[in-house]
Amino acid sequence: MIKVKLMNRRFFLKTLFVSSIISPFLYSKDEIRNELLLKKIPASGEYISSIGMGTWLTFDIGYNTKELKKRAEILNIFFNSGGQMIDSSPMYGTSERIIGKSLSLINNQQKLFSATKVWTPNKWHGVKQLENSKKYWKLKKFDLLQVHNLVNYEEHLETLMKLKKKRLLKYIGVTTSHGSRHSKLELIMKKYDLDFVQFTYNIVDREAENFLLPLARERNIAVIANRPFQGGRLFNSVKNKKLPSIAYDLGIKNWADYFLKFITGHPNITCAIPATSQIEHMQENMQALYGRFPSERERKILKQKFLKI
Ligand SMILES: NC(=O)c1ccc[n+]([C@@H]2O[C@H](COP(=O)([O-])OP(=O)(O)OC[C@H]3O[C@@H](n4cnc5c(N)ncnc54)[C@H](OP(=O)(O)O)[C@@H]3O)[C@@H](O)[C@H]2O)c1
Repeated sequence: MIKVKLMNRRFFLKTLFVSSIISPFLYSKDEIRNELLLKKIPASGEYISSIGMGTWLTFDIGYNTKELKKRAEILNIFFNSGGQMIDSSPMYGTSERIIGKSLSLINNQQKLFSATKVWTPNKWHGVKQLENSKKYWKLKKFDLLQVHNLVNYEEHLETLMKLKKKRLLKYIGVTTSHGSRHSKLELIMKKYDLDFVQFTYNIVDREAENFLLPLARERNIAVIANRPFQGGRLFNSVKNKKLPSIAYDLGIKNWADYFLKFITGHPNITCAIPATSQIEHMQENMQALYGRFPSERERKILKQKFLKI
């Protein structure tokens, strides 16, 4: 297995190509998948990178040109590293507009997996929001549309299912966060044919392990883990702290990588969506797309070592 740190994706793929000429049997498709740590979307069998990107607060920058250029650079690193899913919402102020503007400033976004939400109590307004979102992102259609925080999920899911049927949308889902309304989410997951659910799961907030994650597996639903760093709080407890030795055994390079691999190592998690406004942080976060997933035993150790700090 080749070792890949953070590197330009094109260079990475070129390296694979050259290597496979030298030894055509060196890399099977599955090995390349392992290399980039992709996960399968159960509903379709499509593979997607296990590290995506959130945009709450971090992309809500108003009309500041300097900050916009920085966001474009962040996206550039994201895509060069193999990132795909970008998650947003009409709730996130100017974020959707900034995503669209940043995407037009770069040229490596071909693998974008676009995910946004409807967030309104009104059915008709949901349709309007979707039209606006397409305009802001400069897209003809989204890969995934989610009902934000379960708001009026019954009517919005009706709209989204119709769009999916007409192939104007690839996947549908619902979201919640901060551990709220898990019992309601459970009922929705049982009742509707969802492709995705999104809820909070991180090394501290693990309530979803009890029933939501097993249910997602049973119902063939892909899972997006939001608040993977507990909104950034996880970093407070590891300031100036060295990584435990298990991290070195696993090839984990920094605390962001540590927190993210704990999440994506869970067999029922499809994608974690850390948010950042910093170029260096994006570089750190994308390390988690390389190496290997920890086993169940290793995840337990990652958790125990962190909780002892
Ligand atoms: N109900 C919902 O649907 C819902 C609710 C919550 C969240 N979400 C989605 O999930 C995404 C992620 O959740 P979140 O934004 O709440 O929190 P998060 O991703 O857990 O944490 C974001 C915070 O972590 C910091 N950070 C990121 N990378 C870092 C690194 N390598 N080192 C140090 N600090 C780092 C960021 O600060 P810097 O900017 O300084 O890097 C930011 O303050 C959201 O953006 C949103 O897309 C959805």
